[in-house]
Amino acid sequence: MAHENKLFSLTLKHAQWRMHETLNLIPSENITSPQVRELLASDLGHRYTLMVNSTIHGVYINNAYGGTKFTDQIETESEEIAKHVFGARFCTLKPLSGHIAGMIMLFSLCARNDLIMAISADLGGYDGYMAGYMPDKLGLHVDCLPFVERDWNVDFEIAPKLIRKNKPRLVILGASFILFPYDIKPIREACDDVNAFLGYDASHVLGLIAGGEFQKPLKDGVDLVVGSTHKTLFGPQGGLMITNREDVFDEVSNRLAWHTLDNPHQNRIAALGQALLEAKEFGSEYARQIIKNSKRLANALNDLGIPVLYAHKDFTQSHQVLLDLNRIRSEFGLNSTELMNLLESENMIIDAVGRLGTNEMTRRGCKEDDMERIAEFFTRIVKGKEKKIKNEIIEFLKDCKLTYCFDDKK
Ligand SMILES: Cc1ncc(COP(=O)(O)O)c(C=O)c1O
Repeated sequence: MAHENKLFSLTLKHAQWRMHETLNLIPSENITSPQVRELLASDLGHRYTLMVNSTIHGVYINNAYGGTKFTDQIETESEEIAKHVFGARFCTLKPLSGHIAGMIMLFSLCARNDLIMAISADLGGYDGYMAGYMPDKLGLHVDCLPFVERDWNVDFEIAPKLIRKNKPRLVILGASFILFPYDIKPIREACDDVNAFLGYDASHVLGLIAGGEFQKPLKDGVDLVVGSTHKTLFGPQGGLMITNREDVFDEVSNRLAWHTLDNPHQNRIAALGQALLEAKEFGSEYARQIIKNSKRLANALNDLGIPVLYAHKDFTQSHQVLLDLNRIRSEFGLNSTELMNLLESENMIIDAVGRLGTNEMTRRGCKEDDMERIAEFFTRIVKGKEKKIKNEIIEFLKDCKLTYCFDDKK
């Protein structure tokens, strides 16, 4: 039987472990609803669509494949939902991931030898925008935005001056370690003065933005928002791009087919549309709860003697909490990988870079009191070096219930 082969048995073991036995604090992950999973596993996942507007073998072709009369409508419907949720005039759900959406942004708005400015990966920015990665392949130069480490934010005094001086083609806000919103106005004004585009990689905070929390980048003047659809947003893994500028959207549209992708994976687009319907209905409550949970988790850990950064700023305004890895090393003798492995041995899952995320546990129905329990588990494992917390975690998870989604196929 198919279910007895190794692939099935490993996948089922994985699902049992990650879904029912482990408590996940990775800020890059989330859980999709049954409806989203049904659409992902549907026939759409077998099919092709490709809008090319091109002449192939002497014949003008708009849509390269037959059989798409429903898929075209599904894509349009999902895009309409996305535009509504984000208050955007234009959007594409085609990018296959957040990284690809970022690459399409660079492709669309920059030309060879242009300068871009982004937050340094040493200070939580996304590595993909750094020299050595995407910009190199596209012939772009990179300057890092000045950053105030004590505030864990861009230096909004100096950054506008540097933008005016260095005249980049594109400035990118957004980061992988993101706690606080950006002051977009002074950056926008500087970009206007030198005719630069302002982009925002919202991969981490897209679900908060969908829920009307964190900040409103398009309303505040960002030209193009790109991001992953599966971190705070509880969609399938993938990417999206939204903008209010028609000229920017035209550039993006011209860099899709055959430039940065071919078949856009309609099962993912349908599933993303469904996740966005969930965000439309439940997103603001969900996003507010994530932020309350993050603050409570950080405060509770700190009270229990686990070093957490940015106490002087009430720790966080996002789904993330940053651990003080230097103090964890000196006080508990653990480097970040040892910390991750120790927690995993007791069924608590974190990443190896010192971020904790409350998004998945919030989706699983956790509130502030649950954050206190999670902080207690964490502390007993790390500080008390207690064993057998695993069983308590499994019991705790039995009371968790997927929330912020519909009961049936609405
Ligand atoms: C800010 C940022 N942008 C882009 C990405 C890449 O996203 P994806 O995994 O969807 O390609 C990440 C990855 O975590 C990220 O943190």
